[in-house]
Amino acid sequence: MRADIVVLPGDGIGPEVTAAAVEVLRAVGRRYGHQFTLNEHLIGGAAIDASGEPLPAATLSACQRADAVLLGAVGGPKWSDPKAKVRPEQGLLALRKGLGLYANLRPVQPHAATLGASPIKPHLLAGVDMIVVRELTGGIYFGQKQRSETSASDLCEYSVEEIERVVRRACQLARGRRQHVVSVDKANVLETSRLWREVATRIARDEFPDITLEHQLVDSMAMHLIAKPRAFDVIVTENMFGDILTDEASMLAGSLGLLPSASLGEGKVGLYEPIHGSAPDIAGRGIANPCGTILSAAMLLRHSLGLNAEAECIEQAVAAVLEAGVLTADLAPAGQAVGTRAVTDAVLAQLELPCHIPELRD
Ligand code: NAD
Ligand code: IPM
Ligand code: MN
Repeated sequence: MRADIVVLPGDGIGPEVTAAAVEVLRAVGRRYGHQFTLNEHLIGGAAIDASGEPLPAATLSACQRADAVLLGAVGGPKWSDPKAKVRPEQGLLALRKGLGLYANLRPVQPHAATLGASPIKPHLLAGVDMIVVRELTGGIYFGQKQRSETSASDLCEYSVEEIERVVRRACQLARGRRQHVVSVDKANVLETSRLWREVATRIARDEFPDITLEHQLVDSMAMHLIAKPRAFDVIVTENMFGDILTDEASMLAGSLGLLPSASLGEGKVGLYEPIHGSAPDIAGRGIANPCGTILSAAMLLRHSLGLNAEAECIEQAVAAVLEAGVLTADLAPAGQAVGTRAVTDAVLAQLELPCHIPELRD
């Protein structure tokens, strides 16, 4: 198949991890006979430096025309002055909004080989397989912002329709899994959460009688996620809760550098990015873990191009590399870490081997 993929490396370790994922996509294209066109564009701090804008019009229109977008990360100390007029992160938010990507899928599946890298006891982690569906274009991120000399405010707003569509997406996903959805809110305090709970209850009851829906307050959810992670299948929540809970959930897998994501809407184009940021503390040293971005490329093949088998092959290759103990410093025992290049090469070598008959799934 032919596919036009826009690559947005961004800032910090963004270019390092997207370069790894691009090599993997090229290798998959060669091996399975697909023509992937991969074109880079500017976003974030790199775009501010070049043009003064975090999301140049040329980048947005290239993304709108593409079949899919692969992004590294944006932001960093260079652009973090609280008085700055533009910020790299605004570019990413405008891209998500501009493409209508309201559902951010963040799967969390610890690998057997790296259970020891997690601060959580291994017996709690075996068999953990959850997916967080984070609402991505509403809530406090996008409400009106105000600032005076003496105060500041960020408005948190949700419409019924915004809640309905993301809850539907979560329930549909649950149908292909264990038919269990936990909706996370703060309904004991927030009006938006009370609306969220009402709408989620109605959608599940009227449209998904086969799905069990439970509600959980976000503060106790932060605890349950660590105490009994196997209890969760699909989790659906609003924008900021989903952001925070998934960084926490990354510790189940052992590293923030392992988790991929897919951002989807009703349109044809999806955005794929690791859940981590630009990691300024390790940028430019060739030691970033590329697996979250490589696994995001696998999600791209599955969700935007329908190439389930190829996606599965990438996931198997990453699992085999972790199994073989080829690990970056975020996962490796002291003294045994290798760099981004070595992990990428190991994944590429694995992709040369026969891929087991892939199990097709959503
Ligand atoms: P971060 O995710 O960049 O880093 C947190 C910690 O995890 C750091 O110690 C970092 O070294 C480590 N880490 C992250 N990714 C890693 C990887 N692939 N391999 C190994 N270690 C990794 O979060 P932060 O430090 O809070 O934020 C830094 C900047 O990134 C900020 O400007 C923030 O706005 C931005 N950010 C961007 C995105 C995005 O573009 N999607 C996401 C989160 C944060
Ligand atoms: C993420 C990031 C972003 C978010 C920032 C950089 C805008 O933390 O993708 O998780 O909060 O959504
Ligand atoms: Mn985040």
